[in-house]
Amino acid sequence: RRVVVLISGNGSNLQALIDAQSYDELGGEIVAVISNQADAYGLKRARDAGIDAVALPHREYDSREAFDGALIKVIERHEPDLIVLAGFMRILTPVFVQRFYGRLLNIHPSLLPAYQGLDTHARALADGVTEHGCSVHFVTEELDGGPVVVQAAVAVDTEDDAASLKDKVHLREHLIYPIAIKWFLEGRLQLGQQGPTLDGMPL
Ligand code: GRF
Repeated sequence: RRVVVLISGNGSNLQALIDAQSYDELGGEIVAVISNQADAYGLKRARDAGIDAVALPHREYDSREAFDGALIKVIERHEPDLIVLAGFMRILTPVFVQRFYGRLLNIHPSLLPAYQGLDTHARALADGVTEHGCSVHFVTEELDGGPVVVQAAVAVDTEDDAASLKDKVHLREHLIYPIAIKWFLEGRLQLGQQGPTLDGMPL
């Protein structure tokens, strides 16, 4: 089973997937990593692991549609079973989302549906929540609104600031993303008419 990973930055989640693959715990092979930022550190992580690393700078395209069209072409060249967004900081067009519907996963640093969008850690702290976390979800046209597959929660301590909370959440991201991807690649996780199922059971 073949996986393409889209990134924009550091790629610590990508690293967790590369590590899982090296332990034979991913259920498939990362065949390409694509970044819309040419200087993304995650591209180096990919190269170091011997994975095809592609820079596709969105600034070189006149429109979101043109960029997504180019992105679709690069992705399809690699014939993936699954496309994984791992810190990919671009809003995708409906055409893109429809093309890969049901085989497009994202990880978001909040307990969705809470805190969609950016700056989730600071917003959660400002609200004084006692619990925060991360969610893996299928991507739909609604930004950060697709059906949730699995979440991990962390307790918010009184000493936490946005940086410490981010670190705590990241650790959980690295734990749950490889698991969700393995479920998918093994055919256990699917997006059905009524939402996601695992082993045929609704999530
Ligand atoms: C993560 O917090 C992820 O949840 C969000 O973007 C961040 C990417 O971090 N979508 P990294 O590049 O994987 O370190």
